[in-house]
Amino acid sequence: MNDPIAIARPEIRALQAYEHAAWDPSFERLHANELPWRTASDGSQAGLNRYPEPHPDTLGAALARLYDVPADHALVCRGSDEAIDLLVRGFCTAGRDAVLVCPPTFGMYAVAAQVQGAAVTSIPLRREAGYTLDVAAIAARCERGDVKLVFICTPNNPTGNALAAADILAVVERTAGRALVVVDEAYVEFAAVPSCAQLVERHPHVVVLRTLSKAHGLAGARIGTLIADPRIVALLRKVVPPYAIAQPCIEAAMQALAAPQLRLARERVAAVVRERARLAAALAALPGVLRVWPSDANFLLTEFHDPDAAIARFTAARLRVRDFRNRAGLGQALRITIGSPEQNDRLLRSLAC
Ligand SMILES: Cc1ncc(COP(=O)(O)O)c(C=O)c1O
Repeated sequence: MNDPIAIARPEIRALQAYEHAAWDPSFERLHANELPWRTASDGSQAGLNRYPEPHPDTLGAALARLYDVPADHALVCRGSDEAIDLLVRGFCTAGRDAVLVCPPTFGMYAVAAQVQGAAVTSIPLRREAGYTLDVAAIAARCERGDVKLVFICTPNNPTGNALAAADILAVVERTAGRALVVVDEAYVEFAAVPSCAQLVERHPHVVVLRTLSKAHGLAGARIGTLIADPRIVALLRKVVPPYAIAQPCIEAAMQALAAPQLRLARERVAAVVRERARLAAALAALPGVLRVWPSDANFLLTEFHDPDAAIARFTAARLRVRDFRNRAGLGQALRITIGSPEQNDRLLRSLAC
């Protein structure tokens, strides 16, 4: 596909972006109908009486450096959740187009599609092959022409495994010209695999989603990055409301991208990876545990002989895990987030007693 926005909604391609007030911090601001005084509780650097940058380009450039892509390939979003929503709104016409998901996977792809009035078509991961992509079925389904977005989550939530790079590339090659392939890498920092961000240059229909919510410990700030061909970034930028990223969140993200914070984030990821191995081995050794699925993320999909009993023990210890028993393809599974060493010890003690 030469032009990746050829398959976007025609009305979004034609849309005139909202013209926001000019943003130049060297001028006195008498053009945006703000109050000139800060409130007493304002702990921000820039002043919360002022609108933030309409699109936080300085933060966008810093995120692009973090992910090693050119600045015009990065769009800052309110978490990857917003990136998913923007893609569906930009590319799927209600009542006509579809998204393709590979369940069991992250639920927001289907929710965003349903909100937009797009259909959701599923090609399940092959559980018997370790939750791997069914490349041939995905490619065959995309030939019908209605699928505009193929969502691939790697490492996948809630199964935890990173998908094979060769399978992802095969999907990319076999969908060119028909659909965008959206690779959601929310957990990639916990995996020993490279990011797919570098695929964007050669394959302009690939979109990669990254987030500061997981490895960088900034879930509360809601900062995600959509990495894509500049034409996709420019198209979706028209759909994002101006001033969408709040000033305290911009400042928190800029601080998180300073060298000492990045070093700390790497240390914490390493700690999670060590705890993941310890917890997986300890859980697998318990008689009540049927199976601990291999994980490249910061959680463990764990199947129990008696999940009700396990949940009762967790509840008694005031520990909350995520119950996935009612989802197709997940067996008797609960999803357990890797906590601090103390939290993980507490979880293991709750099952042992
Ligand atoms: C696979 C996946 N993608 C995206 C998200 C949303 O991330 P964000 O906090 O960046 O919106 C999550 C959150 O749990 C997730 O598991």
